[in-house]
This record gives sequence, C-alpha cells and structure tokens, in this order.
Amino acid sequence: MNQFGKLYGVGVGPGDPELLTLKAVRIINEADVVFTAASAKRDYSLALEIARPHLSENVLIKFLSFTMTQDKEATETAWEKNAEEIASVLRDGKNAAFLTLGDPMTYSTFGYILKNIRKVMPDAQVETVPGITSFHAAAARLNRTLVEAEESLLITSGAYGGEQLLNVGQNVENIVMLKAYKNIKQNNEALKKAGFFKNSVAISRCGREGEEIIENLDELETRTPDYWTLVLAGR
Ligand SMILES: C[S@@+](CC[C@H](N)C(=O)[O-])C[C@H]1O[C@@H](n2cnc3c(N)ncnc32)[C@H](O)[C@@H]1O
Repeated sequence: MNQFGKLYGVGVGPGDPELLTLKAVRIINEADVVFTAASAKRDYSLALEIARPHLSENVLIKFLSFTMTQDKEATETAWEKNAEEIASVLRDGKNAAFLTLGDPMTYSTFGYILKNIRKVMPDAQVETVPGITSFHAAAARLNRTLVEAEESLLITSGAYGGEQLLNVGQNVENIVMLKAYKNIKQNNEALKKAGFFKNSVAISRCGREGEEIIENLDELETRTPDYWTLVLAGR
C-alpha cells in the first residue's frame, strides 16, 4: 500500500472568505502542511489571507518562493525546487495542501506545481479542490449572465493586447478577459474591432477591499493599472 501523503490543490476563491467551499476548509485544516506561493506582489499570501479566518492556529504554513523572471530556465528550476519541497512532505507520509487564488485549474500557480510534482514524484497522489473563479464572482457581483442558451464564452488573457480576442473572439457571444491590467489600449481596440466594447465592463478587486466597477473601459487607459482587474464583455 502507498504510504505516501497526498497533495491537495485548494482553490480559496476570489477574495471573500465566505466564498471558500466547505471542502476547502476541511482539507486545509486536515493537512499536515499548508503551502502557499510567496512573491513580491501578486497572489502570494493573499490566498493565505483569504483562507486565514478558517485556519486553525496549529496548522503548519510554508511559503514557496514564486519566481517569475524572464529567465525561463531559472523559473523552471525554482518551480522544480518548490515541487521537491512538497514532495519531501509527501514522502514523509504527510498530506500537503497548496492554496491558490480562485480556482486551481484556471490561470493558476497550481498548474506549475502540478507539472513539476509529476516530474519529481511521478506516483504522487493529487486531488484538486475547485474554487470559485474571479470571473464567476464578478458575474455574480454585477448580476450579469456569463453565458446562456446556445451561446459561447471565450476565457482569455489581456496580457498580450487582445491578440487572442481578435483571433477567436469573432465566433463567440461573450468574453471574459483576465489579466486586463496591461496593454489596455490594445485590448480596448480589439474589443471595439470585434464588436464587444459597448457591452463591456471591468471590475477591479472584486469582493475585496478597494473593489471598483468601471463601466467605461476607456477610463482604464487613464489610470494606474490594477493587476486584479478583469473584463466581462458581450455582443
Ligand atoms: C493569475 S490569474 C488568477 C485567476 C484565478 N485562478 C481565478 O480562478 O480567478 C490573475 C487574474 O485574475 C483576475 N482576478 C483574480 N482575482 C480578482 C478579483 N478579486 N477581482 C478582479 N479580477 C481578479 C485578474 O484578471 C488577475 O489579473
């Protein structure tokens, strides 16, 4: 019988601690070690802060350094090292939970963990606990349907200036654009060109302190971009 521990990828939802699932709360309290990614900014301990009200005091928390440099090799080495740290817990027969913002399978650091754990410990047992994504929270916050009837929904990233949106956006009725914090002018142009601009809205820090709803996306071009911004758009 396999005496190794199990790795849980746990989605903690978009920010409101009431949006963690019951399962997530149980798993993080049963885990021997709770891992979270620690970077200079971004989702580092934010995932931990969201989960904290639910965590018992005696849970062991470990931070993994989340290096994202232009140097692909350095980034890969860092992630392999992180995976090795988790694997050493599993090899000791202990269970580990890795916290991730929103859902672990959606533009998430857990994707890197998963790939690398398979490299360093191919027989590791892994279970993913889904979380409420930022865009589901945004749709709920705005009382705005994401998709209905026979429509389609494109989930894309704004990080490359709406390129993907122009490539495939012509064939869908609805768009979710995450990472809508850079290339804003190009993203807006792409939304206009593809016929989505008029029916679009941005939200920053949805469900968190400093939440802002931006009805006119042109306004985004004149302000300091907030990393925690997404756009919902429709025809
Ligand atoms: C790396 S992705 C993480 C997505 C996350 N795994 C999820 O399921 O929503 C980061 C992007 O998610 C979006 N995001 C995450 N939380 C958000 C929030 N509370 N409000 C608005 N956008 C958010 C932003 O577009 C941000 O740039």
